[in-house]
Amino acid sequence: MLDGKRIVLGVTGGIAAYKAVELCRLFVRAGAEVRTVMTAAAKEFVAPLTFQSISRNPVFSSLFAGVERYDHVHIALAEWADLFVIAPATANCLGKIAAGIADDLLTTAVMAARCPVLLAPAMNSAMYENPVTQGNLQKLQALGYRFAGPEEGELSCGETGRGRLAAVELIFEQARALLAAEKLLAGLNVLVTAGPTREPLDPVRYLTNHSSGRMGYALAAAAARFGARVVLVSGPTSLARPWGVRVVDVTTAREMREAVLPEFEKCQIAVKAAAVADYRPGSESGTKIKKSGELTLHLVKNPDILEELGKLKGERFLAGFAAETEDVRENALDKMRRKNLDLIVANDLTEPGAGFNVETNICRLLFRDGTELPLPKMSKDLVAETILREIAKRYRKQ
Ligand code: CTP
Repeated sequence: MLDGKRIVLGVTGGIAAYKAVELCRLFVRAGAEVRTVMTAAAKEFVAPLTFQSISRNPVFSSLFAGVERYDHVHIALAEWADLFVIAPATANCLGKIAAGIADDLLTTAVMAARCPVLLAPAMNSAMYENPVTQGNLQKLQALGYRFAGPEEGELSCGETGRGRLAAVELIFEQARALLAAEKLLAGLNVLVTAGPTREPLDPVRYLTNHSSGRMGYALAAAAARFGARVVLVSGPTSLARPWGVRVVDVTTAREMREAVLPEFEKCQIAVKAAAVADYRPGSESGTKIKKSGELTLHLVKNPDILEELGKLKGERFLAGFAAETEDVRENALDKMRRKNLDLIVANDLTEPGAGFNVETNICRLLFRDGTELPLPKMSKDLVAETILREIAKRYRKQ
C-alpha cells in the first residue's frame, strides 16, 4: 500500500506517545520506510529503542548528529520525506510550529519540510480549548497543515473531553490519502486571482465588496499541493499566505489587471476567483471629501480582466466565477460564452453556506463542452480540490 513511501514520524512528549508505536508498525507493515524523530520529552514516555526496532531505522533526536557524513540532519530528513506525521503533537509542539520556533530537531525539520505535514494533536481538553491553542490550530490549518483529530473521550488525566489522540487507524488512513495525493498539475504554471479590489474615493475611503478571498486562497493552496507552480494575485485580504505559493499583492482592479497580464502569458491554467469591482469612482479626490448636503458619486467602468484574458486565451484553460443572486445557471452560461471561458463556477449567493465570507461553498461547475457538475455544500478546500481535479482532467486531454 505504501511501498517505497518515506515517512518521518515525529513523536512529542505526551502520554499518547505509546500509541505512536502502533502507528509506526502500521506504516512499516504497509511498506513505508519510517524514520522516527523524538523530542526529549517523548523519550521520557517511550524508549527510542522501541521505535528503532519497529522501524528498523535509527531514531533521531539531536540536531547535532549527522545522518550521513556532511548532511545536516534536519535538512536531510526534510528532503528525504514524502510525508511528515507528528503523533502525538502536544500543544507546545503545535505552538512552536505555528510561531516559527525551531529549537529542536523535530521543529527544525518540520520548518524545512516541503512535503505535506499531518498533525495529530493530543492534550488535556482545557489545553485544547485554550484560545491560544485554538488560534494556533487555525493558523496552522490556514497554512496548509493537515490534521487528524483530536477526538472526544476519556483523557489520561481522568477528565472527559476533546483532546484524545485520533485512533491510529484513522491517522494511518489520512497519511495514506495524503501520500496518494496525485501530482495532477506537476510542471504546470497556474495563475489564481483572489479577494476583492478596493477602489479609492479619497485618501480615507474606498468602494469594495464582501469577498474574503478564501475561495481563491484555497484554490492556490490546492494547486500547489497538486504540484503546480502557483502565482496568486490577491486583492486585500486578512488571510495567511498559502504555503508554496508566490503572492502578488494588489489593491485596485487596474492594478490587478497590470499584475495578471504578464503572469497570464506564462501560465497554462488560470482561475479567476477574485471579486473585481466592476466600477470605480470617476476621479479620486486628493484630499478628504468633506460632508456638505447630498453627495452624488460618478462611477466609471473598470476593465473586465477576465474578458480580456478570454481574448488572449489560446491553448490555456481559463476558468471564472459567477456569483449570482438570480437566474444563476443562465447568467453563468452567458458569462462563460461572453468571456470565452472553459469553465465557469456558479454560485447562488442567496443559498446559506454559499458565496462570500463563509467557510463553505455550494457550486455548480459548467464546462464549455456542456458538462455540468453540481456540487453539494462542501468546505472551500474541498471545492478547490474538486475544481482543480476537473480542470487537470480536461487540460491533460486537450
Ligand atoms: N471579473 C474580472 N474583471 C472584472 C469583473 C469580473 O476579471 N472587472 C471576473 C471575476 O474574477 C469572475 C468573473 O469575472 O471570475 C465574474 O465576474 P462578475 O462581476 O460576476 O461578472 P460580470 O461579467 O461583471 O457580470 P455582472 O456584474 O453583470 O454580473
